[in-house]
Amino acid sequence: MSTAAQAAICYGHDHPFAIEPVTLDTPRADEILVRIHACGICHTDMAARDRQLPTPLPMVLGHEGAGVVEAVGTGVTHVKPGDRVIMSFNSCGHCPSCEIDKPTYCYNFVPENWIGTRADGSPTTHQDDKPVNANFFGQSSFATHALAHARNVVKVPESAAAVPFSTLAPLGCGLMTGSGAVLRSMNVRAGMPIAIFGTGAVGIAAVMAAKIAGANPIIAVDVHDSRLALASEMGATHTINGRSEDAFAKIKELCPQGLSYAFDTTGINTLIQQAFDLLAPLGTLGIVGASSPTDNLTFNESSFMGGGKRVIGILGGDSDLFGFLPDLIEHHLAGRFPHDRLIKTFPFDAINEAFQAGESGSVVKPVLVMPG
Ligand SMILES: NC(=O)c1ccc[n+]([C@@H]2O[C@H](COP(=O)([O-])OP(=O)(O)OC[C@H]3O[C@@H](n4cnc5c(N)ncnc54)[C@H](O)[C@@H]3O)[C@@H](O)[C@H]2O)c1
Ligand SMILES: [Zn+2]
Ligand SMILES: [Zn+2]
Repeated sequence: MSTAAQAAICYGHDHPFAIEPVTLDTPRADEILVRIHACGICHTDMAARDRQLPTPLPMVLGHEGAGVVEAVGTGVTHVKPGDRVIMSFNSCGHCPSCEIDKPTYCYNFVPENWIGTRADGSPTTHQDDKPVNANFFGQSSFATHALAHARNVVKVPESAAAVPFSTLAPLGCGLMTGSGAVLRSMNVRAGMPIAIFGTGAVGIAAVMAAKIAGANPIIAVDVHDSRLALASEMGATHTINGRSEDAFAKIKELCPQGLSYAFDTTGINTLIQQAFDLLAPLGTLGIVGASSPTDNLTFNESSFMGGGKRVIGILGGDSDLFGFLPDLIEHHLAGRFPHDRLIKTFPFDAINEAFQAGESGSVVKPVLVMPG
C-alpha cells in the first residue's frame, strides 16, 4: 500500500522549496518506510539545489533524516515498526569498498544516492501518478515520510531514548564526516598538533573529535569571528581569522616543527596547498571541502616523498554507519560531543528561511522539525 506524504520539492536555486503532496511506494524487501520527525540541512543539499551534483531537478532533497519506522520490507531484520532511527547515505553492499566496510567509497554511490530513482531506475515517489525525483542519499527526508533502505537506516540505541530527533538527525552527514575524518580517516594521535580550516558543521565536528582524540594544539581557522568563538568553546586551543595576511605564519609560530594533521573543509585550492606546506614529517592533509570540478592541486614532490606525507580525500569520514553512528551518540551522551549547541530548529514549512540561515552563516546547523 502506498503512503501519502508531504514533501518539499526543490525546483532549483531561483525558486523557493514548495511543500506538495506525494505518494511513496510500498517498501520492497530491503526497504524501510520512516515517518520523519526531523531533518538537518547540509551544504550538500545546497550543492544539489545549485546543480553542482549530478542530481536531477525537481527533486525531494534532505539527507539527514531521523524518525520512527512505520513499515519494513520482508527482508529487513535489524529494525521494526516503532523503532527510532537515523538515516545516512546508501551503498550497494557488494562492491570492493562495501566488502571491506568502507561504504562511503561505494563503487555504486551515484546510482544508490543521486539519480532520483532506485539504483535500478524505478521511481520511489509519485505525484498524481507521475514519477517525482527522490531517493536522495537513499532517503529524501525533506518530507513527512521517507522510503529508505536496510543499509542506510540505523537504530538509535536505548541509551539515547531521551535525545530529541532534532539532535539525532544531523549526525547522519556533516557531523559524522568531520568527526570521522579525525577519528577514523586520519586517526589523529594524542598530543600531536592539528589545524582545521573552516569551522562550519564539518569543521566544528572535527574540533570536538580532535579534543576527544587528545590532539594538541587544536588550531581552528575561519573568516567568521562568531564561528571561531564557538570553535573555542568546543575545544579549539587557538583560533586564527583566515582573513589576516599572516594566518599561515601564525600557525608556523604555534607549531614550528610543523602540523601532524591539517584538515580542510573550505575546498579552497590555494589554502589547501599552503596547508600542505605546513605539514611535519609524517603529516597528513585530509580534504573534505567541495571544490570546483576543474581544480587541481600542486605539491612539492620531494617534500611529499621525503617527509612521508599523506594527502587523503575523505568522504563521510570513512564511517561504517552501524559502528560509528552509535559511537558518536555515546560521545554525545557522555558530553564529549555537544553538537546540539550548533543546532537551530525551524518548522518544516519554514524550510526556505532555514536554508537562508545556513547560507548566511548565522546558523551552523539548521534542522527542520516535521509537523506532529
Ligand atoms: N566529503 C564529505 O563527505 C562531505 C560531507 C559533508 C559536507 N562536505 C563538504 O564540506 C564542506 C564544509 O561543510 P560545512 O557544512 O561545514 O560548510 P560551511 O560552509 O558551513 O563551512 C565552511 C567554512 O569555511 C569557512 N571559510 C571560508 N573561507 C575560508 C578561508 N579562506 N579560511 C578559513 N575558513 C574559510 C566558512 O566561513 C565556513 O565557516 C562543504 O564544502 C561541504 O559540501 C563534504
Ligand atoms: Zn558498494
Ligand atoms: Zn551532507
